[in-house]
Amino acid sequence: MHPVAHPLFSLGIIIVAAGRGERLGAAKPKAFIEIAGASLLQHCATTVNTLKVSGQPAHGQLVLVVPEGQAPAAFDVAESLDRDRWQVTVVTGGRDRHESVRKGLGALGPSIDTVLVHDAARPLTPADVFERVVTAVHETGVGAVPGIRIVDSLKRVDADGTVIRSEDRDSLIRAQTPQGFSRRVLEEAHHSAALLASHPEVLTATDDAAVVQHFGGRVRWVEGSPLAHKVTEPDDVLLLAAMRTVSEQSS
Ligand code: C5P
Repeated sequence: MHPVAHPLFSLGIIIVAAGRGERLGAAKPKAFIEIAGASLLQHCATTVNTLKVSGQPAHGQLVLVVPEGQAPAAFDVAESLDRDRWQVTVVTGGRDRHESVRKGLGALGPSIDTVLVHDAARPLTPADVFERVVTAVHETGVGAVPGIRIVDSLKRVDADGTVIRSEDRDSLIRAQTPQGFSRRVLEEAHHSAALLASHPEVLTATDDAAVVQHFGGRVRWVEGSPLAHKVTEPDDVLLLAAMRTVSEQSS
């Protein structure tokens, strides 16, 4: 059965999971290493399955963008979704994150008009962060990025280690995912970015919000979560496992 169209919008969620995760030094691609008995990609899918929008169980299309050769493992993850609410599509990723997002966008069905892009490398991002992002996109019509405020003092340094000056941390956030946009805006920005791909000095964007803003789109921020921490180094896996235990004990 296909998802029932929502009267106001139709949601697509792209989970980019095609990175190799070389800094982790694991035998598998990063999205398939495990925390507490489930792969990073499985944790993300489990969260998508519990999402609510306007108090109702969410539904739409979920696109899993995975490394070459990992489609069977991704289909196993797809099996865990409520297929009455989520149409799941698996595609192979690209050489960099932007290309993987473009491939995910290319797999969306024609009815999808709102898109969230999420890093599989942020496996414990709570459902309420997804929900704040979706709500913000619908209420404001512009892009939405979750972020958390910075508690450390911030210094600008130069190449030889000299501290040049302190920066105002009150006007900065650490950006996380999922980031949400109108499909049209995100597609147009990524299409334009692809044309600039051979000029990396022009487009230094490391996330979707930066791609959208580079081409004139507006983006607002909503409260993220410490649990949306990204797995990059081996210690991040230990940190997230510990954070998960603590969050389960306190809920
Ligand atoms: O490498 P990094 O952790 O910054 O990647 C962020 C996210 O983008 C990860 O979930 C990773 O799997 C994904 N990615 C991708 N395709 C690439 C590179 C990264 O889907 N070629």
